[in-house]
This record gives sequence, C-alpha cells and structure tokens, in this order.
Amino acid sequence: MAATTGICAPQPTILPDADALAAAAAEQWIAACREAVAARGVFHVALAGGSTPQRLYRLLAQPSNRMRIDWTRVQLYFGDERAVPAEHADSNFRMVRETLIDHVPVAAQQVHRMAALPERIEDAADDYAALLRERLPCDAAGVPVFDLILLGMGADGHTCSLFPDTPILDERARSVAPVYVARLDSWRLSLTYPVLEAAHRLLFLVSGADKAARLRAVCRGAQPPAPVQRIRARGRVDWLVDRAAAAELAA
Ligand code: 6PG
Repeated sequence: MAATTGICAPQPTILPDADALAAAAAEQWIAACREAVAARGVFHVALAGGSTPQRLYRLLAQPSNRMRIDWTRVQLYFGDERAVPAEHADSNFRMVRETLIDHVPVAAQQVHRMAALPERIEDAADDYAALLRERLPCDAAGVPVFDLILLGMGADGHTCSLFPDTPILDERARSVAPVYVARLDSWRLSLTYPVLEAAHRLLFLVSGADKAARLRAVCRGAQPPAPVQRIRARGRVDWLVDRAAAAELAA
C-alpha cells in the first residue's frame, strides 16, 4: 500500500519506465475522478507542469482512456504557472492544452488557466485564489479543497513552484502566491502549502535519473527538509516513480 498521509516520507511505487509510470498515473487519475464524482458530483483537479506529466496527459486523451472519464464533471486547474503568455513555449497552460485539453471534450468554462504576467503578478495571484474560493469547497479555515493535485518534483526538491529559499515557503495566509525564482530568473504563480495540505489526494510523479539523489533524501527524511518534505498532507498521498528515479533508494 503505497498511499500515505502526513509528512511526505514517501513509500514510492516503482514502475519500470516513464511509460509505465504514466499508465499507472492514468489509472490513479481516473480512480480519483470516479471517487470525487461519486462523492461530490464533480472532479476538481490541479494539473502539474514540467515534462513528466506530459505522457500522462497524452494517455488520458487517448480514446481508450478518454471514454472512461465523464469529462462533463471535470474542472481543470493548475498547480503553478510561469509568468508568461498562454502561448509561450514555457507556459504550462500551453503544454496542457497541446497534450490534453485540445483532445478531450471539455468546454472552455471547465478550464481555469492560472494567468500570470510579471506586471500584475500580485493581482493574478489574488484573482486565482478568489476563483478557487468561488468554485471549490473550502475547509473550516477557508482553504480550497481539491479532489486531486498532480505534482512533480525537481532535483532540488521543489514542487509546484515552492522552490528552496523563497518566501513562498512561509506563505500560509494566501492560497495562491507569486514567487520569483532567481535561479531561473522567472516569476511564477503557485498554490501554497495550505492548499496542498488540504487536498483529498496528492499524486507525485517522479521520473529520471536526475531525481534519484533527491528522492533518496526525501524518502529518508533528510535534514534540512526540501520544500516537498514540508507538506503536511491531510489527505492521501501517492508517489509514482520510475526505476531511474528510484535508482538510489536501495543504496
Ligand atoms: C513546473 C512544475 C514543476 C515541476 C518540477 C518537475 O512548472 O515546472 O510545476 O514543479 O513539476 O519542476 O518537473 P519535470 O517533471 O519536468 O521534471
């Protein structure tokens, strides 16, 4: 049983390769969708950016999987976004549009882009937080509760855009906040820890040898904790990793 709750001391499920990881992730995504629709009539899911989830998105769009999902009940959101126009090569929205949205029967009203541009980044964060409060159930503290948040992990242990040594790691009042990532010279918007911690399910997808050392450190509870280790999840947490990312776990 790979699912755990509480601090991210993962017990990852290891898949042979990136394709097998995507297939396992698709099954979890579809199960989470069915679970949410059965319980609440809707599936509010925040999608991850980067490269790892692209195989998953393409797989969900394939007819054999697409037909297993009641897309009329699906509401698509983003866990984070780079502060670039929607059609910029770095845009997570563009990536998700190309790999998923353009290939499944969702109306524009079901897709909630995290619109972020540097010149109005604070307002954009507040706008998205207001959208989440309006559309999602909220917990007793007023934190929006996703049914599922898809997450990746960087080699530095970031997730969403919760990067090491950035002020967003201490943000507990806002659901969405801007963050300037000096290493990337890039402004971003990201869900904050309270939203990740309130979600019914978190699903981490970690692929590639470049993640092996960090995954080992995270699984061993290395100190000081990387951003991903600081999540105090109250819901179910699953980690799906491929063999390359798991290469140092047994060491
Ligand atoms: C982003 C993602 C980011 C990503 C990790 C892992 O906008 O880039 O939200 O948190 O999940 O950087 O990225 P890969 O899957 O490409 O390794």
